[in-house]
Amino acid sequence: MLNPYLPQTVKIIDTFQETPTIKRIDFRVNFSPALLTKKMTFVPGQFILAGVWGAGEAPFGLTNSPYNRKRWQIMVRNTGGRVTSSLHRLKPGDTMTMRGPYGNGFPLQKMTNMDIVAMAGGCGIPPIASLIEFITVNRNNFSKVYLVYGAGSPEEFAGKSRFTHWRNKKIEVILTIDKPQKGWAGRVGFVSEHINNLSFDAQKTYVAMCGPGPMFAGTAAAFLQLGVADQRIYLSAERKMSCGIGKCQHCTCGKHYVCLDGPVFSWNQIKDMHD
Ligand SMILES: Cc1cc2nc3c(=O)[nH]c(=O)nc-3n(C[C@H](O)[C@H](O)[C@H](O)COP(=O)(O)OP(=O)(O)OC[C@H]3O[C@@H](n4cnc5c(N)ncnc54)[C@H](O)[C@@H]3O)c2cc1C
Ligand code: FES
Repeated sequence: MLNPYLPQTVKIIDTFQETPTIKRIDFRVNFSPALLTKKMTFVPGQFILAGVWGAGEAPFGLTNSPYNRKRWQIMVRNTGGRVTSSLHRLKPGDTMTMRGPYGNGFPLQKMTNMDIVAMAGGCGIPPIASLIEFITVNRNNFSKVYLVYGAGSPEEFAGKSRFTHWRNKKIEVILTIDKPQKGWAGRVGFVSEHINNLSFDAQKTYVAMCGPGPMFAGTAAAFLQLGVADQRIYLSAERKMSCGIGKCQHCTCGKHYVCLDGPVFSWNQIKDMHD
């Protein structure tokens, strides 16, 4: 039997400094035959455990289109810790370790034919970007689609090179920075402050969000106030992880394992989860 803790070594194809602290790493995966039979190689919202031999591994959301078999991508924010610092030193041609994909991902079937509001804060963009990529391929299966993306300053938006493509696919991309800044003519304020200006049908809207913890409560409250049901508000939760496969209990949150039952949970589920 294959050892589930044994990562595969994958080759870095390309790296790109998305923001002063976030680096994108593109790599080639040796897919298992079972995965190759599927149309999508993962579900947006799923994560991998990536690392460097000797430095350990950590969870990262996949950020590429789930239909892309040539390269997978992660965006890594350098926290100064062992794993992210080591990943930031990688160059094209180097190798890194990878296990996964793990976790559940966003509920794509339920979201079909609905209005979608994707909310991303700071380094929460990777899984949301993958969801948007999925939607662009299946655009006719969704009604209105918004992406509201907030960052501390304009330089901190990751994934900028994809915004034009998304807008061409009738995805309204709304960018906002926390505080006014010279040279920025766009929106200002937290992502939750821009929800009231969107035009979606609350009865048929799904929300997908990922970002820093404090973003969730205010954003969910704004959607609930507008009549979006809590079982249609989804978020990607972050917890320290070790095994990634429901064995070590590092990531427990209430009765749930974030690695196995999540990382994507509905607001309905989150309400009952306590640290
Ligand atoms: C499901 C899931 C998906 C994730 N996806 C991504 C992703 O796509 N991109 C990404 O960059 N990160 C992502 N993370 C977070 C990432 O796994 C951590 O930042 C990573 O564990 C840091 O490892 P490290 O060894 O470099 O630092 P550690 O030694 O673990 O931490 C170094 C320092 O950074 C602080 N720190 C660690 N993590 C965070 C954090 N998330 N926010 C703020 N401070 C932190 C620690 O408190 C410590 O002070 C995800 C986490 C989960 C659970
Ligand atoms: S990381 Fe081990 S149980 Fe979730």
